[in-house]
Amino acid sequence: SWTPEHFVDSMVLALQHTIGPDDKVILGLSGGVDSSVAALLLHRAIGPRLHGIFVNNGLLRKDEFESVLHSYKDLGLNVRGVDASQEFYAALAGISDPEGKRKAIGRTFVEIFDQEAQKVAGARWLAQGTIYPDVIESVSVKGPAVTIKSHHNVGGLPEKMNLKIVEPLRALFKDEVRQVGDALELPHNILHRHPFPGPGLGIRILGDVTPHKVDLLQRADAIFIDGLREFGLYEQVWQAGVMLLPIQSVGVMGDERTYEQVVALRAVTSVDGMTADWAHLPYDFLAHVSNKIINQVRGINRVVYDISSKPPATIEWE
Ligand code: XMP
Repeated sequence: SWTPEHFVDSMVLALQHTIGPDDKVILGLSGGVDSSVAALLLHRAIGPRLHGIFVNNGLLRKDEFESVLHSYKDLGLNVRGVDASQEFYAALAGISDPEGKRKAIGRTFVEIFDQEAQKVAGARWLAQGTIYPDVIESVSVKGPAVTIKSHHNVGGLPEKMNLKIVEPLRALFKDEVRQVGDALELPHNILHRHPFPGPGLGIRILGDVTPHKVDLLQRADAIFIDGLREFGLYEQVWQAGVMLLPIQSVGVMGDERTYEQVVALRAVTSVDGMTADWAHLPYDFLAHVSNKIINQVRGINRVVYDISSKPPATIEWE
């Protein structure tokens, strides 16, 4: 019968057999479960001949780039962190349309990843964290966005550099990937992380993206996510995040009238992301998060909770 330990042993042997003794492998890391588990498997098979590339697109959660990079280094992975935030902000400047933003982010990712990959002399393989649902494309992503899911994000690289593709998780479902990650001692914070879209906060800022809006959203989102953890609710929801709405509303602070941004909290329960119900979070918790965001994040004076299910709504707002 299938066990994660057997899978690890046989996949490590298969990788060692397939990948030549001097071959180098490139892998794009996202901080998510799939690419991290793929990295650990490859690391066990070929050690530092695995060259991980982790790009900061400036649209990650607060402090996520530093903390995930730190975890990767602790695991002994050979990973290069590339902070390309400014390139992404420049590519996004003035774009409000959701598909336009996805395209700008996808295009910039390919450029940066290509540049970094070219620096790995003698690379023969491109590894990807593709899992079975990706193979059968049962993960619904809006419209053409499917082409920029991070593991599809390789542009013309395989042809240009004459790379062969290796996908060690191709036969696994998500829960099996988690079991394999557990067997490989992937830290709990990465193993049980909520899904997070490749375009990141870029599609949670409705309208155009600026560094200032990213900063506001990162701070509000951190309060929500930390709150879910503190209240023991994080692992009861499939996914959660905050949306920065492109409207201002009137509020009052002391004797002053304010006219500031509105954010929407989104949390859903789901088994596969295809359908989802809004999470029935306790009122006390919502009150706590709302107060904390409004008190601590200047520029946000109103918090609303999204009570829409999928379908007909989607999990993300863009
Ligand atoms: P929706 O909003 O379509 O999202 O209900 C379903 C799942 O897919 C994620 N998502 C994306 N992931 N690139 C990604 O890599 C995208 O462009 C994208 N759009 C949505 C979303 O976070 C949810 O987990």
